[in-house]
Amino acid sequence: MRLPTLSLATLALVLAGPAAAAPDPLAPTGRWSAPEHAAARTPPMGWSSWNAFRTEVDEEKVLGAAQKLVDSGLAKLGYRYVNVDDGWWLKRRTADGRLMIRTRIFPSAAIAGGDSSFRPFTDRLHAMGLKAGLYSDIGRNACSQAYDLHSPNLPEGTTAEREVGLYGHVDQDVALYFRDWGFDYLKVDACGINVYAPGAPVVVQNGYRAFSPLIDQASINRTDVAQVRSLYAAVAAAIARYRPDGDSILALCTWGSADVRRWGKEVGQMWRTSQDITPHWTRMLHSFDSASTRALYAKPGAWNDPDMLFIGQGDFDAQHLTEARTHFALWAIINAPLFIGYDLRQAPDSLMRIWGNADIVRVNQDPTGHQGVIAYASDDVQTIVKTLSNGHKAVVLLNRGLAPAEMNLTAAQLKLVPDAPITLRDLWSGRTLVPFTGETTFTLAPRESRVFEVSGVRRLPDGMYLSEVPGDVNVAVDGVVAPEPDPVVHRMMGQWSGTRDTGERPTYAGWGGAQADATPFDQTLQVAGRSYDTGIGVLAQSRLEVRTRDAARFEALVGVDDSTRDTRDAAEFLVYGDGRLLARSGAMRLGEAARPLRAELRGVRVVELVTRKVGHATDLPLVTTWAEAALRGGGAGLASR
Ligand code: GLA
Repeated sequence: MRLPTLSLATLALVLAGPAAAAPDPLAPTGRWSAPEHAAARTPPMGWSSWNAFRTEVDEEKVLGAAQKLVDSGLAKLGYRYVNVDDGWWLKRRTADGRLMIRTRIFPSAAIAGGDSSFRPFTDRLHAMGLKAGLYSDIGRNACSQAYDLHSPNLPEGTTAEREVGLYGHVDQDVALYFRDWGFDYLKVDACGINVYAPGAPVVVQNGYRAFSPLIDQASINRTDVAQVRSLYAAVAAAIARYRPDGDSILALCTWGSADVRRWGKEVGQMWRTSQDITPHWTRMLHSFDSASTRALYAKPGAWNDPDMLFIGQGDFDAQHLTEARTHFALWAIINAPLFIGYDLRQAPDSLMRIWGNADIVRVNQDPTGHQGVIAYASDDVQTIVKTLSNGHKAVVLLNRGLAPAEMNLTAAQLKLVPDAPITLRDLWSGRTLVPFTGETTFTLAPRESRVFEVSGVRRLPDGMYLSEVPGDVNVAVDGVVAPEPDPVVHRMMGQWSGTRDTGERPTYAGWGGAQADATPFDQTLQVAGRSYDTGIGVLAQSRLEVRTRDAARFEALVGVDDSTRDTRDAAEFLVYGDGRLLARSGAMRLGEAARPLRAELRGVRVVELVTRKVGHATDLPLVTTWAEAALRGGGAGLASR
C-alpha cells in the first residue's frame, strides 16, 4: 500500500478514528492546573556570585557573602539562597562521567584520592541557616566557555572532559547536585543549545563538539520551543526524583527566548525574561520591561525573573543611590527574585540599607504573590500598583528619563474611591504623608522613584478585581497562535556592539499574551467605544483559571475589544465553576456593547473563564475583554487576604 501524502502521525490518527482527536484545550478542567510546589511560594531571595565576580568565584568570596548575609540580618529578611554561578567546575571525568570541582578555588571540596564533593560546602551554608545554589547548562557546554575565554576558571581537558553541561547526563548530574551534594537550587543556562553551532568560530577554535542550536534568540520561528521545554522538563523530573520533599528551585535561564513566558511555570519556579542585565540604567530598564507586562504569568511558586540585581556597580553604585534605590524598588514591586550581585564583604552601609529595607522587601515577599500591575505607562514615567495581603496597596512612581518629571497619582490608578482620604507611607523615609483625596502630584528627579504603601477606601468594597489579584489567575491557554516579539521592551544601546550594528530589535515572544488592565497588545481595554481602566485583556481561544477564595459571585462586562485584529469572527465568553458551566454570553461581535456576565459561585473553588471564537473567517487574533472582571461577596476575607 502506498500512502505518499500521509505522515506516520497523520496515518495513526486516521486509523485510530475520532476517539484519538486531540483534546479540546478550552474544555474546563475544574481545577487549578498550575503546579503547586513547596519552594518559592514568595520570590526567591539571596546572593549570587555572577554579577559580583563572573567566573572569578571562590569559596572564600562565597562564604564571605554568606557570613555577611547572616551577620547583617539580611538572611533574616529572606536573603537565604547563596548561589555559585558559572566558573566552579574543573572537568567531567570521562571514566564514569562524574563532574569534578576546581578544588583550587573550592578547597573544602577536595577529597583524598582526587575526588571532589561540595557536601562540606553546602553543610556549612546549611549550618548557617542558609540554602545552597549551583549553576549548570542544559547543553554540553556552558556560557563561560563561549564568552569568558580568558577566564582562569574554564573547564579543562579534552573535548569530552570539557562537556560539563547536563546534556546526556541529566540523571547523573542532578543526583550528584541534589542527593549527594545537598544543593537546594539549580540555575540552568542555555548557551549549550544556543551558541555552539556547527562551524561557529568558538567551536572550531576551541575544539568543542558542535550542537545545532535549538534557540535562535532573534527568531522564535527558528527556535524549537517544544524541544527546549522538554529538555528542561527532564531536569525538573530528575530534581523531583532526587529532592522528593519539593524544597528545591529550578531557575530556567533561556533569557526570555523559547516562549518561556508561556510554559516556565509548568517546569521551573522562575524563568529569566530577558538577556543579561548589565550595570547600566538602560539595560536595567530593558530587563524590567521584559517582566513588567507579564503580571498574569507569575504566581506563588512561579516567578518572572528579570535577572539578578546589579546594585553596587556602574550606574547603581554607592555614588548613584537614586538609581540603586529605583532598581531595587522596581524589582520589589514586580515580584522579581531578589539576588544580590555584589561583593558583600566590602558593601558600604548606604548599599546595605537598600537591600535591607524591610518594608520594601515585605512588598516583594507579600504572601499572596500578586505581581504589581502597570497603572500608567509612557516612555518617560510609569506607575506600578501591587495589591498587598493586608488590604493595602504598594505603588512605585518611576521617572525613567534624564529630566525632572511631574507625576500625578490618582485614586483611580489605585482603584480607590476619589472622595475618601488616601494615605501614603513613604517606604524609604518611613514617613506618612498628609492624606489626599482624588489625586496628588510629585516631582521626581531624573531616574528617581517613589515607593509608597497606600491605604484608602476601595472602589470595589466587597471584592477584588481580577487585575488586582494576578497571583490568583492562571493563564492556562492564552490564545497566542504565532508567538511574536514584544515591542514594548526598552531597546538599549548595546554595550558590546556600540552603534555599529542596526540596534536592538524587539525580541522575547510574549506579545499577545493575557494582560491585566490592558489588551494583549497593550491598548486600553475598550468595547463599543467605551473604555475600561480595569479588566483582563486576552485573545479568543483562551482559558483562564481563577482561585475564588470563597467569593460569592463572579461578575464582568464582556465583549470583543475595539482593537481586535480579527474584525469578522464573533467571540463567546463562558464562565465555569469547578468544571460546570455557570454563565455564557452568546456570540458577540465587534461593535456590540459589552454584556454583563454574572455567576453565583456557592462553594466553587476554581472559576474558568473561556473565550471561544465563533466562526473562522480568519486566523487573525480576536482580541477580547473581560472588563471589570471581579470576584465579589463572600465576606471580608476577600479584600484583606
Ligand atoms: C549567562 C547567564 C548569566 C550567567 C552567565 C554565566 O549569560 O544569563 O546569568 O549565568 O551565563 O556564564
